[in-house]
Amino acid sequence: MAYESIIVEIEDHVAIITLNRPDALNALNSQLLQELSKALGEADANDKVRCIIITGSAKAFAAGADIKEMSDKSFVDMYMSDYFEPAMRTISNVRKPVIAAVAGYALGGGCELAMMCDFIIAGENAKFGQPEINLGVIAGMGGTQRLTRYVGKAKAMDMHLTGRFMDAEEAERSGLVSRVVPPKKVLEEARQAAEKISEKSLLASIAAKQAVNRSYETTQEEGLLFERRLFHSLFATEDQKEGMSAFLEKRSPQFRDR
Ligand code: HXC
Repeated sequence: MAYESIIVEIEDHVAIITLNRPDALNALNSQLLQELSKALGEADANDKVRCIIITGSAKAFAAGADIKEMSDKSFVDMYMSDYFEPAMRTISNVRKPVIAAVAGYALGGGCELAMMCDFIIAGENAKFGQPEINLGVIAGMGGTQRLTRYVGKAKAMDMHLTGRFMDAEEAERSGLVSRVVPPKKVLEEARQAAEKISEKSLLASIAAKQAVNRSYETTQEEGLLFERRLFHSLFATEDQKEGMSAFLEKRSPQFRDR
């Protein structure tokens, strides 16, 4: 399918989805989010793809939900469409690993989209924020929940209540991003991480992702049980035999997702 608001490229085993509304700093409107969820669904279903990257431009990952699109909406419009919820659900339900490669602004819905990904690689010029308070609203794509879990109450409250931005250095220190690199290297760093992930067994990658995500949804005891069951189940795979044999035979494993 031809997309207008995003660009999809598949390089080796990595799908790179670039948000592409440069005139609006990649503001997220309904069309972009529909295209993004469709592209993510296709990448998830494509056997060739083993890891996905979502990125933006050098100036903005995404400067939030599109204020022009939202400004005239009523409560009923928002409530009846459950604004952006269907797209959000699709994005956060992708089974394959998804990396956010963030340069420049990741604000409001842009910050929330980055947080829906499995981890964030940021450029030194990245700026994260939940400035919805300046518009007389609050975050609506998970920001009050995910940011609080990722950086803790003090910083989350500070950001949601004052609308201030967090730079890349603070974001890394706070646990919001996994790596900070020079702005020009963001995509390359994400691509290298994606290639590394692509070499693993996809069965194990999906299990690791599910188990880590579970830690946000359940008690530690239940999470530990969930992890153990997944760990045990991987012993039913050929990839476990291959991975452990390769180690013992001092060679590289050839995983086949079986
Ligand atoms: C629509 C946007 C936009 C947005 C920027 N633009 N952000 N359009 N929605 N969220 C547009 C501007 O109107 C402008 O268009 C062009 O992009 C360039 O932006 P400038 O403001 O001229 O750039 P600059 O001065 O460099 O400032 C960058 C900025 C600022 C600091 C990122 O644009 C900004 O504050 N944007 C809004 C950030 C924000 O409040 N995000 C939260 C949105 S609410 P023109 O046509 O004038 O050139 C949200 C809710 C999510 O995300 C929940 C939904 C369910």
